[in-house]
Amino acid sequence: MTSRRLVLSRGGALLGAASSGLLLPELAQAQPGKVRVGLMLPYTGTFAQLGVAIENGFRLAIEENGGKLGGREIEYYKVDDESDPSKGVENANKLVQRDKVDVLVGTVHSGVQMGIQKVARDTGVLSLIPNAGAHAATRSLCAPNVFRTSFTNSQPTLALGKAMMDKGHKKAVWITWKYAAGDEAYEGFKESYTAAGGTIIKELGLPFPQVEFQALLTEIASLKPDAVACFFAGGGAAKFIRDYAAAGLKGKIPLYGSGFLTEGVLDAAGPAAEGIITTMHYSDSLDTPRNKAFRLAYAKTYRMQPDVYAMQGYDTGLLLVQGAAAVKGDLSSKVALYKALESATIDSPRGKWTMSKAHNPVQDIYLRVVEGKENKVLGVAAKALADSGAGCKMG
Ligand code: PHB
Repeated sequence: MTSRRLVLSRGGALLGAASSGLLLPELAQAQPGKVRVGLMLPYTGTFAQLGVAIENGFRLAIEENGGKLGGREIEYYKVDDESDPSKGVENANKLVQRDKVDVLVGTVHSGVQMGIQKVARDTGVLSLIPNAGAHAATRSLCAPNVFRTSFTNSQPTLALGKAMMDKGHKKAVWITWKYAAGDEAYEGFKESYTAAGGTIIKELGLPFPQVEFQALLTEIASLKPDAVACFFAGGGAAKFIRDYAAAGLKGKIPLYGSGFLTEGVLDAAGPAAEGIITTMHYSDSLDTPRNKAFRLAYAKTYRMQPDVYAMQGYDTGLLLVQGAAAVKGDLSSKVALYKALESATIDSPRGKWTMSKAHNPVQDIYLRVVEGKENKVLGVAAKALADSGAGCKMG
């Protein structure tokens, strides 16, 4: 029996060995102390609502599974990372060094994620990525203790190029925030669009999180592409959609994007979002009992509709529940824990998915269109799409 040690979660201090068999079976397996879960997410700035949705989804999954992890109660520790990459390491260390969390859940912004990745690699803390798509986290800088439940930045856009060419759009302009997420989303778009025979006539960008789109929209109008493809998210995405319509481009030059463009922003964007086509590993309208049950539970609990971020937070909770159950709450049993996380099948609202060798979801990418207040699914744009995991060497 491996789990007859009584271990304090804080600092992992050994309290005593109980191998005599005198303990009752329940006591022998119980792990004293609470599991310390760190949430490092944006709670302010353009991604604030993404952070809240992730936390909501995460907590919902835990609550639906009895509110515990492997039989242990949970203590939450929270840090607002402000989507500020310059504070990434410092903020991750607040959770890992100061609060001694057993698991760090975070974050949204790819640049901030690189700070978490450094701390995760240096300290070995279990790191679960509920959004940020930075390629390096599951490519060249992959690690046995890092698992992503979301996507890589190029995964959604690898399905976008062909969808646009299928609609006959042969010349496109690309526009994004110039940072890792936008640049890597562009990689996926470029690969898929040019492979399908399309030509990218101009690549436009502005620094994150700026939202002064006017000059760029004027440029798009004069370039007259067949279509525009983009990466934006959160509050900035809502403004981009509104500004695109206000500039007179809606209805003239079709707007496409990786699906973040239309996630969680349909109320804020209003009618300007109608008809936007995107590719994404989720759709509100997936007509499955699993998705419907999730959406109902989320709406009942939080009095708002879930989006892709809520779903990813939820899946992060499901993954951790599975891992913790496999080691009966003893998260210090790393070999067994990682094995359980690696081999998990997540019964997700997006559809069932598994981990790639580099610890990133292998998942279907859906083609969707905005209709009313919904991202309506049109079909599967890429089946069981795996990131390349290029350069990932574990161990
Ligand atoms: C990222 O920075 O990786 C990122 C942020 C927001 C998204 C998607 C990706 O919606």
